Amino acid sequence: MTDSRSYGYTDTLSAEHYARALRADIRDGLARTPKTTAPKWFYDAWGSELFEQITQLPEYPVWRAELGLLQLHAHDIAVRTGARSLTELGSGSSTKTKLIIEALGSKGLRYVPVDVSADALHQASTQLVQEYPGIIVHALRADFTAPLVLPEPPGDEPRLIAFLGSTLGNFRQPVRGPFLEGLRSIMRPEDHLLIGADLVKDEREMLAAYDDSQGVTSEFDKHLLQVLNRELDADFDPDSFDHVSVWNSAERHIEMRLRSRVEQRVKIRELDLAVYFALGEEWITESSAKFTTDGLQAELAAAGLRTDQLWSDTGAGFALVLATAR
Ligand code: SAH
Ligand code: TRP
Repeated sequence: MTDSRSYGYTDTLSAEHYARALRADIRDGLARTPKTTAPKWFYDAWGSELFEQITQLPEYPVWRAELGLLQLHAHDIAVRTGARSLTELGSGSSTKTKLIIEALGSKGLRYVPVDVSADALHQASTQLVQEYPGIIVHALRADFTAPLVLPEPPGDEPRLIAFLGSTLGNFRQPVRGPFLEGLRSIMRPEDHLLIGADLVKDEREMLAAYDDSQGVTSEFDKHLLQVLNRELDADFDPDSFDHVSVWNSAERHIEMRLRSRVEQRVKIRELDLAVYFALGEEWITESSAKFTTDGLQAELAAAGLRTDQLWSDTGAGFALVLATAR
């Protein structure tokens, strides 16, 4: 007998594609001033695990704030969208998504988690098909910063596209606008987009969320160096960098940076490169934009997305926006 509790999986990122994109991004990013690389390279199996640890830190209220809003409003989201297809970008462990799945009704629901992390997709999908018999899971390993090709829901079945965790904020301007326009272009009139966004708040609180006292975020940041050592045969010494978090008030985002503790030249053999770091030089490894509710709605409107409903937790400083392309 075949096991009905299985899930589909499509990998759009071949090993060659991944290696090529990594080489190009790192070569490019480390040639910039300041050095700036894309955050997607953090997420191998250990990077995804470290991120899960971050979500449980007392200093990282972002995750719990969104969970709280979903607990309050998942039912309303289900009623407003009537979705029978749920696509999620940057799904990770899909933990919070369970609230949406339960509100929509798991039986016969099509769930398409999209992530670069194969391990996160496998773990989440295995768990979901066991926990919700009757759910149809088709995981898609893809890079959402590239033009997205999503499986079409059958007929005119309404679809909800979820983009949670304030991952939208990890897009730096000016690419956030075109990304939202790209999403809009694949939305049909019956579809909805649900975005979770962290709001501007007290600077100390925002900084602590990216520099916790247990050093988990620092380990996450330095994990990038391990990925580069392994994938590009580089010789980064994680102990020769400090993790720092900085509030960039002009661009309204937190930057995670690796600061070189010494003057050094690091070999990246796969790129045939020796990269120079001055003493104290800082490399931006991720930025995380903080929104205002008005600013977020204006960004959505500029991309042709109309806010249908906005729920916010002003205490915790987090918002959920449900939008349509109509
Ligand atoms: N939505 C989850 C996870 C957020 S962490 C939550 O709220 O807890 C960000 C997730 O996006 C990670 O799972 C990471 O693997 C994924 N990710 C980061 N960059 C990506 C990219 N360019 N394409 C696809 N997934 C990406
Ligand atoms: N996108 C979320 C944020 O910017 C989660 C996240 C991604 C994160 N990478 C992180 C949080 C590193 C802390 C540290 O808040």
